Amino acid sequence: MVNYKDLGLVNSRELFKKAINGGYAIPAFNFNNMEQMQAIIQACVESKSPVILQVSSGARKYANQTLLRYMAQGAVEYAKELGYAIPIVLHLDHGDSFELCKSCIEYGFSSVMIDGSAHSYEDNIALTKKVVEYAHKYDVTVEGELGVLAGIEDDVKAAEHVYTRPEDVEDFVKKTGVDSLAISIGTSHGANKFRPEQCTRNAEGILVPPPLRFDILREIEKRIPGFPIVLHGSSSVPQDLVKSINSHGGNLKDAIGIPEDQLREASKSAVCKINIDSDGRLAMTAAVREVLSEQPEVFDPRKYLGPARDRLKELYIHKCKEVLGSANKA
Ligand code: G3H
Ligand code: 13P
Ligand code: ZN
Repeated sequence: MVNYKDLGLVNSRELFKKAINGGYAIPAFNFNNMEQMQAIIQACVESKSPVILQVSSGARKYANQTLLRYMAQGAVEYAKELGYAIPIVLHLDHGDSFELCKSCIEYGFSSVMIDGSAHSYEDNIALTKKVVEYAHKYDVTVEGELGVLAGIEDDVKAAEHVYTRPEDVEDFVKKTGVDSLAISIGTSHGANKFRPEQCTRNAEGILVPPPLRFDILREIEKRIPGFPIVLHGSSSVPQDLVKSINSHGGNLKDAIGIPEDQLREASKSAVCKINIDSDGRLAMTAAVREVLSEQPEVFDPRKYLGPARDRLKELYIHKCKEVLGSANKA
C-alpha cells in the first residue's frame, strides 16, 4: 500500500472548493503514456494551473499499475523541476467496481470515480457508498455519476442521453457521501458527439450542435448549492485538427464536439472538473500524421512523438487559459 500523500499528490477536495468559489474548472486530462504526461505537466506548469491526471481502466492496463504510480510521482517531481509545484491529483476515470477503486487507492491514486450509472439507482447508491467508505479512510476523494451520457460509456452504448434528474441529486449525495458528482446535461464521450441531423448550420455553413442543458445544471445547483459538479465528454473536437487528420490520410467522419464557449460558461458555475481526452487524441494524431506523411523517411519515434507532445501541450495551455479559466490558479 502506498499513500498518495507520500508521492506528493493531493486529493481534489480543496481544489474543487477554490474552483467553485473562483468560477473556474480544473482540467482532467487523460493519459496513457510518457509523452501525454509530459505535455500535461509542461502545459499546466507553464499556465500555472492545478491539474487532474486521469487514468481509465483501459489506460491502467495499457500502462501498467506500477509504472503509473512512479509516473505520477515523477510528474510531481517534474513540475518542481520545471519551476512550479502545481497541485496534482491522480484520478481513476470511470472505475466500474469496488475492487478496481480499492486497488487504485493501494497504488497511490488520490481520487477515484465509481461510475455506477449503468446500474439501477439503488445499486448505484450501494456501490458508490461502499467505495466512499473505503476511500475516505485514506482521505481519497470520490466522484460518483448520475445520468447516462449518450455515446459509449463503460462499454455500454446509449443512443440518447439520460439526463440527470435534479430531483435525485440531493438524495444520492446524502446517501453515498460522494465528494463530487458527474452529471449528464448533453455532453458525450468521443469525437462524434452529435449526428449532423441533430445540428443546425450557422451563416458560414458550420454545424452548430444543440446547446447543453444549462436549465438542468441550474436546477441541480439549486438543490445541492456549492456541491462540486463534473462534466465528462467535454472535448470540443477542433475542426482544424479533424481537417489535418483527414488531409493526411485519416478518415474521421462527422466529428463534432462541445463548443468552447459553452464549456467556459459551465466553468463559471458549480462545474469544477471538466474531462478532456478526445481532443488530446486528435492533436497527437494530427501531428503524427503530418510528420509521417510529409517526411516519409522518418522512423525515429522521437521525430513524431516529439511534435505530437508539443501539439498536445499547446492544446492544453489553450484549454487552461481560454476555456476552463484554471490558468494562474495553482
Ligand atoms: O471516458 C473515457 C476516456 O476517454 C478514456 O477512454 O477507456 O479508451 O482509455 P479509454
Ligand atoms: P471526451 O471524449 O469528450 O474527451 O471525454 C473524456 C471523458 O469524459 C473522460 O472521462
Ligand atoms: Zn468520461
